[in-house]
Amino acid sequence: VGDSQLAAIVQPLLSWYDTHARVLPWREHPAPYRVWVSEIMLQQTRVEAVKPYFERFMTALPTIRDLAEAPEDVILKLWEGLGYYNRVRNMQKAARKLVAEYDGQMPADFDAILALPGIGSYTAGAIASIAFGLPYPAVDGNVLRVLSRIEKSYDDILKQSVKRHFEQEIKAVIPTDRAGDFSQSLIELGAIVCVPNGAPKCGECPLAALCQAHRDGVETELPKKTPP
Ligand code: ADE
Ligand code: SF4
Repeated sequence: VGDSQLAAIVQPLLSWYDTHARVLPWREHPAPYRVWVSEIMLQQTRVEAVKPYFERFMTALPTIRDLAEAPEDVILKLWEGLGYYNRVRNMQKAARKLVAEYDGQMPADFDAILALPGIGSYTAGAIASIAFGLPYPAVDGNVLRVLSRIEKSYDDILKQSVKRHFEQEIKAVIPTDRAGDFSQSLIELGAIVCVPNGAPKCGECPLAALCQAHRDGVETELPKKTPP
């Protein structure tokens, strides 16, 4: 599908998501704090590894205020093994800001979420759409892979300009009644069907009939990234 036809992916993706989405702890009850914690954990860590950390973290620090007030050694201990400890340090800074400025609640406002420490456009879009149902895109590396294959785009997905371009395209087609499910459906397709390393499962893909890379047999060439 070309840029202007990306709208055609919405219904097939949502139908597929309804029947194929994995049951994950943060999906059962997508409160803003839970979506936030899960998305930060999932940034550099696989779903299966995240699950026990997520449950333990939410039990130990069930509210944003608990996170804001926790001693540093407690939060580092809860994060031990996940790595990238600045992720949890930034979460605590953000939690303190939420306590100071928003009564300990995540605001239902994309720009306010984006302004929090450790939250970029992907995470802000994920929280805004999944937790609040707001029409913002959540485009991470997995979603960039899916989109570059669907559109047969050879643009370098590590470029900010390319990411912004795909974010704008997605924003234009978000179904307003299912913004969160749409975000998660793209993430989920990238995680279990349109997987990396040249092994997409196009035979199981709800978008195969719309996918330009698959049509031309070049899905394993995409996405393009700058050589390291
Ligand atoms: N990876 C990043 N975000 C995710 C989510 N919400 N569900 C599953 N995997 C993810
Ligand atoms: Fe990815 Fe294949 Fe689906 Fe295209 S048809 S989106 S390459 S899994």
